[in-house]
Amino acid sequence: MTAVPELVLVTDDGPIRTVRMNRAEKKNALTVPMYERMGAAIEGAAAAPGVRCVVIAGAPGAFCAGNDLQDFLAASANAEGLAPPLIRFLHILARAETPLVAAVSGLAVGIGTTMLLHCDHVVASSDARFSTPFVQLGLVPEAASSLLGPRRMGHARAFALLAMGRPLDAAGALAAGLVNTVVAPAEVEAEAMKAAREIAALPVEALAATRALLRSPDAAVKRIDEEAAEFKRRLASPEARAAFEAFLARKK
Ligand code: COA
Repeated sequence: MTAVPELVLVTDDGPIRTVRMNRAEKKNALTVPMYERMGAAIEGAAAAPGVRCVVIAGAPGAFCAGNDLQDFLAASANAEGLAPPLIRFLHILARAETPLVAAVSGLAVGIGTTMLLHCDHVVASSDARFSTPFVQLGLVPEAASSLLGPRRMGHARAFALLAMGRPLDAAGALAAGLVNTVVAPAEVEAEAMKAAREIAALPVEALAATRALLRSPDAAVKRIDEEAAEFKRRLASPEARAAFEAFLARKK
């Protein structure tokens, strides 16, 4: 019997917890068990003795390809909205008590990009590519990106990314303020760990108070829920179903 690989790997190294998406053969498309595991690891970091920073990472060349489109197709057929564990994961991101750092290598699609708006520090590889083809898929933005995106990069850039689905390369993401640092692909994880260690070494209480001032978790959670209500309507639409079917039936 072959062992089933874990879809999310969680490791603690001193004050740093790494939460690694581990479904490289599907470019780290996210499924419900992955949201559950990632959410538990991020939420649980606050109670884990000594853990002071969480690094979210993926695979070389594939940070995350967004929600699994097979799952979206099933949700569409069953007139369901975003899965409750996904919404819970988004709430956990918005309310995370432990600072979040992301190490983005290669592609970051859909929630692979929008989750970064909840991170306190983002390191990207020079080959990173950020895209949110929500409207192309007949959907709307999620993860409070409709609130945090314009705040972060201004309406014009947020519209190009979130509504027009125009991708950002690493330089564009840096210019838009979506990422802090761009490094060579081989250096992404080391650079993210360096930032995480720097954050972990800050005075704990002052940092917590500063994060509380900088972030707006209640507004983000409210927007996550508003987006989810519209997302449910969109998922059930013929536009969305046709887009999912086209992707899953595509010829390579
Ligand atoms: N859902 C389900 N499966 C996905 C997926 C997703 N979001 N993204 C990639 N995969 C699967 C592919 O179906 C393929 O599976 P297969 O080998 O069994 O056929 C495998 O991952 C590799 O993907 P592939 O398309 O061959 O890789 P690529 O490098 O040519 O392209 C992407 C990568 C991410 C650009 C492309 O897969 C893609 O556009 N995916 C959909 C992204 C998306 O729309 N996400 C939802 C946003 S809301």
